[in-house]
Amino acid sequence: MTASPDQPRKLIVLGSTGSIGVNTLSVVDHLRRNGLPMQVVGLAARSSTKALIDQAKRFSVRHLAVADPASAASLQQALPDAEVSAGPDAAERLVRETDCTDVAAAIVGTAGLPATLAAAELGHRIHLANKETLVAAGELVTRTASANGAQLLPVDSEHSAIFQCLAGAPDSPNNNTVRRLVLTASGGAFRDRPIDEIANATPEDALKHPTWDMGPEVTIDSATMMNKGLEIIEAHWLFGLAPDRIQPIIHPQSLVHSFVEFVDGSVLAQLGPPDMRTPIQAALTWPTRTAGCGDKLDWTRLSDLNFYPPDPARYPAIELCYHALRLGGTAPAVLNAANEMAVQAFLDRKIAFGRIVELVSDALGAIKPQPADDLATILEADQAARRSVSTTIKRGTGIPACQSAEPKP
Ligand SMILES: NC(=O)c1ccc[n+]([C@@H]2O[C@H](COP(=O)([O-])OP(=O)(O)OC[C@H]3O[C@@H](n4cnc5c(N)ncnc54)[C@H](OP(=O)(O)O)[C@@H]3O)[C@@H](O)[C@H]2O)c1
Repeated sequence: MTASPDQPRKLIVLGSTGSIGVNTLSVVDHLRRNGLPMQVVGLAARSSTKALIDQAKRFSVRHLAVADPASAASLQQALPDAEVSAGPDAAERLVRETDCTDVAAAIVGTAGLPATLAAAELGHRIHLANKETLVAAGELVTRTASANGAQLLPVDSEHSAIFQCLAGAPDSPNNNTVRRLVLTASGGAFRDRPIDEIANATPEDALKHPTWDMGPEVTIDSATMMNKGLEIIEAHWLFGLAPDRIQPIIHPQSLVHSFVEFVDGSVLAQLGPPDMRTPIQAALTWPTRTAGCGDKLDWTRLSDLNFYPPDPARYPAIELCYHALRLGGTAPAVLNAANEMAVQAFLDRKIAFGRIVELVSDALGAIKPQPADDLATILEADQAARRSVSTTIKRGTGIPACQSAEPKP
């Protein structure tokens, strides 16, 4: 159960070796040095054994989970006193079997869903970075969290901004007082690239994010702006607003993290440098605040803040996400899984950048949405989407994948 404010907090970090996981541990380190009692009691990753061993030693963590069974032996050998679980459900078992109060959900992709849902069932405070959880299973996860007293604290910078602007009461009367939510977006790596050069861009190009330093999947999702579409779905479930009251806007400086427009015309925004440690800390210390370890805003840069709507021709992924959200049921789970597969295929140089959104659209058209009432149905839809994309890629499309940056011998 969730700790009272005086009890030391016991945190599991899921996806501890990734960009958000590493930043979360650095914030925990900072908070502990500043007197906030917080114990890290569990860590989960896919296969980054060396990083896990270092983290387990640094934070004296005994409970570890790895999705890749082949990584378990070396982990156990290096940490003989640790309890190591391995396999695709290891992160979920870690959450179910470890005494904890807080779970940082920072696994990338639908892989993070079962463990996050388990945390919701157990009534924990959930520091939610894994947006795919709410995209694939928003209704199920929010219903489960509310039935069990679990708190969903957004870590995504845009949702953290909205959460802070709504003063932490997102599901209270705000639905009547909020006119719309405006999610800011950097526009990703191809924001200023001539549109006819985008379809065949390389992974190296797409991974050059203009402002944020993130994991590969979310960086590619920023280049397509699928990321913003997924965040629109995430915001819908977190804040309970209809899709047409949640809108994206390009803001190249990434300093304003989102806006809330109220019905009386007032607008609240939250600002800060593009540094994920700040929203991570805001969630970890919520509802209080303490001195932060993230970068501080340079006010002289505020002389140049720009905003403009995304061009649908450059970023067709956004409309596709609205479409999936309106279809409802398992459609967003299909969208998300198809996107994960397509992004990986692009990173593996099997498809061109321009095929990512087309493949997602094809999968969405091919798989009929079902009511998303339970985890099994959602995961079935997820698997069906993966099979659909994989089959389409194997069948070939006649469109060449992008060229490698290195000339082949
Ligand atoms: N990075 C950001 O600034 C940012 C901002 C907002 C939201 N988010 C969201 O936060 C999540 C994490 O993003 P990220 O950028 O931190 O990703 P990342 O750097 O790619 O890290 C992913 C983490 O998930 C682990 N993982 C992957 N598959 C797993 C599995 N099947 N079981 C257990 N662990 C698994 C990885 O372990 P290995 O290291 O062993 O592969 C790694 O620890 C994503 O949902 C993303 O959309 C990220």
